[in-house]
Amino acid sequence: MSVGIDEISFYTSNFYLDLRTLAAKQQTDPEKYYTGIGQEKMAMATHDEDIVTMAANAALPLIERIGTNAISTLLLATETGIDQSKAAGIYVHRLLGLNANCRVVELKQACYSATAALQMACALVARQPSTKVLVIASDIARYDLDTPGEATQGCGAVAMLISHNPRIMAIDAEVGNYTDDVMDFWRPNYRSTALVDGKYSTKIYLKALKKTWDSFSEVSRIGFNDFSYFCYHLPFSRMAQKAHQHLAKSNQCELSAEGIEAQIQPTLRYNQIIGNSYTASIYIGLCSLLDNVKENLAGKKVGFFSYGSGCVAEFFSGSIQEGYQACLHTQRHMDMLAERQELNYDQYLDLYRYPDPRQGESVEIPKATLGRFRLAAIHQHKREYVAC
Ligand code: CAA
Repeated sequence: MSVGIDEISFYTSNFYLDLRTLAAKQQTDPEKYYTGIGQEKMAMATHDEDIVTMAANAALPLIERIGTNAISTLLLATETGIDQSKAAGIYVHRLLGLNANCRVVELKQACYSATAALQMACALVARQPSTKVLVIASDIARYDLDTPGEATQGCGAVAMLISHNPRIMAIDAEVGNYTDDVMDFWRPNYRSTALVDGKYSTKIYLKALKKTWDSFSEVSRIGFNDFSYFCYHLPFSRMAQKAHQHLAKSNQCELSAEGIEAQIQPTLRYNQIIGNSYTASIYIGLCSLLDNVKENLAGKKVGFFSYGSGCVAEFFSGSIQEGYQACLHTQRHMDMLAERQELNYDQYLDLYRYPDPRQGESVEIPKATLGRFRLAAIHQHKREYVAC
């Protein structure tokens, strides 16, 4: 019996800042962003959006197709949790109308935890093949203004339905893992923006790739040349390009530079215009691959490198299934991206400063999102979500 991704859909905000606007304000050459880090735009969540509304918006198309009955568990992965105790997925459970007997839990390990959720979901489904597990990754990437990380902000959520005999991708059981106690990127409980040692983080990312690949190679018979495509964690697209060149070189890959680049290029397109979405980014990369490659991908092997600062990393693999095209949400993804509105710099600054009523005061939040779910108010420390 195979287990894996039966359906996948993502959501991002309807507003973005072009990095040319940021560069102009900073008096920086925009090519530093467009070419140097390979990013063009960053999605900015509106005041009435957060990880809960984005998660529910990402999952809604899946629920509309398959209903709620078979979903036994909702696993929500995030780095930008909204509560230190209550799982954000409980709000999502209500907004989506999931059954009361569906368990909900939140997972955290920086940008890695969606992969832990995916693997746990596969294990749960293998144990009870009649059930399906909903895995959602949802994040808003925020750095301090005027820091090198600012241009790598973004937001997004991705929802994956995990089932037996999956229609999109079977996930292989063999994985390579790597864990190390490092301080490359972190966010203490009292901070809303991440702290990061940027250059060091890129070095640790590459080190973790090598370690996970070595660990994967010890347990799997799949070699570098068996893969057609690779999905990487995408803090910014140049990071994945550098990582893939590094991996190809260390495997003495005989492809031309263009051939190596072609193994990841289709996975980068959405993230280049959305920005970092932490836990969701690698799986929005998978959506980008599935939606944008016109050749039939059935039977192709895809390698995944998932990285979460701090750090935990994993290399794993999957095989694309016959007939996967019928299960995609390509048109909805493309329409959502095409309909987005550009922000000017002052509008960006306004969205950067979201409502934060720490003393329990009441805040009514004007409607701005075009999504189906929104954060309508915060009263006495309670967040109130509604369907539009
Ligand atoms: N034209 C073309 N390229 C230019 C340019 C120009 N005018 N000006 C600069 N560049 C190039 C630089 O040469 C450099 O390229 P190389 O890396 O190939 O040398 C690139 O643009 C970036 O320039 P800098 O090195 O000067 O950039 P920076 O110091 O301002 O910041 C960064 C880079 C450290 C990655 C920063 O964006 C950052 O801190 N980001 C957040 C942390 C991050 O994303 N880390 C990734 C690994 S950790 C992780 O993956 C977890 C996660 O999600 C955060």
